[in-house]
Amino acid sequence: MSENMFRWEADGDGIVTLTMDDPDASANTMNQRFGEDLASTLDRLEREKDSITGVVLTSAKKTFFAGGNLDDLVKYTKADAQKVFDQTQGIKALLRRLETLGRPVVSAINGAALGGGLEIALATHHRIALDAKGSKIGLPEVTLGLLPGGGGVVRVVRLLGLADGLMNVLLQGQQRAPKAALEAGLVHEVVDSPDELISRAKQWVKDNPEAVQPWDEKGYKIPGGTPSTPKFAANLPAFPANLRKQLKNAPMPAPYLIMDAAVEGSQVDIDNAGKIESRYFAELACGQVSTNMTRAFFFDLQAINKGASRPEGYEKHTARKVVVLGAGMMGAGIAYSCAMAGLEVVLKDVSQENADKGKAYSQKILEKAVSRGKSTQEKADEVLARITPTADASAAQGADLVIEAVFESPDLKKQVFAEILPHLAPDAVLGSNTSTLPITGLAEGVDRPEDFVGLHFFSPVDKMPLLEIIKGEKTSDATLAKAIDIALQIKKTPIVVSDSRGFFTSRVIGTFINEAVAMLGEGAAPSSIEQAGSQAGYPAPPLQLMDELTLTLPQHIREETRKGVEAAGGTWVGHPSDAIVDRMVELGRKGRSSGAGFYEYDESGKRTRLWPGLSEEFGAAQGDLPFEDMQERMLFAEALETVKCFDEGVLHTIADANIGSIMGIGFPAWTGGVAQYIDGYPGGLPGFVERARILAKAYGDRFAPPASLVDKAEKGQSLRGE
Ligand code: NAI
Repeated sequence: MSENMFRWEADGDGIVTLTMDDPDASANTMNQRFGEDLASTLDRLEREKDSITGVVLTSAKKTFFAGGNLDDLVKYTKADAQKVFDQTQGIKALLRRLETLGRPVVSAINGAALGGGLEIALATHHRIALDAKGSKIGLPEVTLGLLPGGGGVVRVVRLLGLADGLMNVLLQGQQRAPKAALEAGLVHEVVDSPDELISRAKQWVKDNPEAVQPWDEKGYKIPGGTPSTPKFAANLPAFPANLRKQLKNAPMPAPYLIMDAAVEGSQVDIDNAGKIESRYFAELACGQVSTNMTRAFFFDLQAINKGASRPEGYEKHTARKVVVLGAGMMGAGIAYSCAMAGLEVVLKDVSQENADKGKAYSQKILEKAVSRGKSTQEKADEVLARITPTADASAAQGADLVIEAVFESPDLKKQVFAEILPHLAPDAVLGSNTSTLPITGLAEGVDRPEDFVGLHFFSPVDKMPLLEIIKGEKTSDATLAKAIDIALQIKKTPIVVSDSRGFFTSRVIGTFINEAVAMLGEGAAPSSIEQAGSQAGYPAPPLQLMDELTLTLPQHIREETRKGVEAAGGTWVGHPSDAIVDRMVELGRKGRSSGAGFYEYDESGKRTRLWPGLSEEFGAAQGDLPFEDMQERMLFAEALETVKCFDEGVLHTIADANIGSIMGIGFPAWTGGVAQYIDGYPGGLPGFVERARILAKAYGDRFAPPASLVDKAEKGQSLRGE
């Protein structure tokens, strides 16, 4: 066994600095070694206690401590529940020994302390955080379908109280910068330099020789009360009801079990509270949802943010000056994101007035941020100064990036590229934000198709993190590498797909909406369809979403796709929803923008109710469909279209499918994304294939599982290829 990961260093004052430094990993995690080394370190601390005045806990890594070991976690099965329970009990017992050592222990948090990292710090008497750039502090377990099982629930409730601890920390899973963590009460001090961090920590040890945790003091009471406090108890029934409302009944067990662990644990002593926490942790850790969410939100996201799809051998690219063509809804948002990331932005439209309007959009967002204390006037002014609104193409002189966002017309797009090209740097990246036009076709209209790439942003651009990068047939690897670098530079999460009508995201979301619309014609009640969508975990129910997107959009895409299929000699197969969409458009009910759609809207554009005419027009609400079938038809339609995207070479990685579907088109987060939904389905891939066959028999051939999927299922593989 090599050296202990807790490096021991005692100074002349009897203060022991323990520097965590796992020699086998780039970050410290709660792996097996951690448990063993912490145990032997505690043995020594207890043995040498008389010569020790206190302990400072810090780390030699960039982060303080990265948290639980997620590699292990995604592998747990239900049979592992007891093992997981015992493991967490083991760690908890060690942390309890640390906080009851009888000597002050201070965490000198030199970098990120997330999940298990913060749980360790919570078991120390005082927490000082270094205000390091990008450093985050928090308990994000809920976002991975888990709960903090290393004493996090127990201690946060005791530190901040049940209501505050639960609502603001445990259920939000927020990752806070050190100063925000200070405000939230998670740390006690924030310092500016590494030296100050250690010297302050040592000073605190000297000033507080008798330190104990608040909960180990005599007469301690949980701040704000517990279920046995009358005032608090009166509010308690509202907790689960509010949570259900917030989650719209989506099948996400973690928030409920976090709440249970917090409430039940507040009724008993810390050790028993820890057991309750471990029991619920084991239940979540061994369940499918945490595997799904950990895979997507940790592993897949990490791969994407590291540029996993980036072609190798190209130097890192940094864009400096971008010209955004079209200052409409998308162009204005793109200009904002680019300016925020420090790029010089030329925002060009047909008139100065239009361009100014586009810039005003950034001004509005920034003013709001300043008034809410999220930004400063100085920073806002700096960002705004980087945006030059104009109607003059020559302002683009020397730009190394174009992002085109004019109206969705191939001829217009061709024309604006021709106009701007002479002004650009010779190797500028030529990006188009088209949402439906194939990139290869658009690239043919410009002189340098190898520099042309699809940069598909999502609305509203300032809030939506995804960027779908589309490779046209001629897009070069060098351009693709640059596009990925640019996406990361402007703080977007890039997925990479090959050209196809609707690319990956629009294609897949279309099947979700079509499926819901088809159900209207089969007699389902419109409100049941909406509920089925919400309860499956979709952030917006399908008919509502269709109204937002406008019904002429699927009509247009369908028409273009039909032409494409027929031109290639194929036979066009329509969808049962087509007739309903066509009739709605005929009736002038095109969606929210036309003031009427599947919903009714008042004069201010507010949605009032589902249109009662749906029943008479389409026979909706005449019978009913099994609720589970309604939900699975939506989920399966998207999953099966995704498999087709893999088969056709549109999608290249599971991570792109998962992250693109959750972040771009609202595929339910609990599934871990549209590809993980297939692998995580009860019975795995064979279970999914079996269910697809049943749906095909009941609702049509579009649910028949593609051959590639059947083949994998027969070979015992997963979609992920495991
Ligand atoms: P929009 O209608 O809000 O804005 C288009 C802008 O382009 C207008 O300000 C118009 O004056 C300007 N424009 C027209 N001709 C121009 C020219 N010759 N030179 C410079 N500017 C010109 O449209 P929106 O929604 O911003 O869409 C723009 C593009 O983004 C379209 O290709 C659309 O398909 C795509 N897109 C739209 C999304 C959405 O949610 N609206 C999402 C993703 C992509």
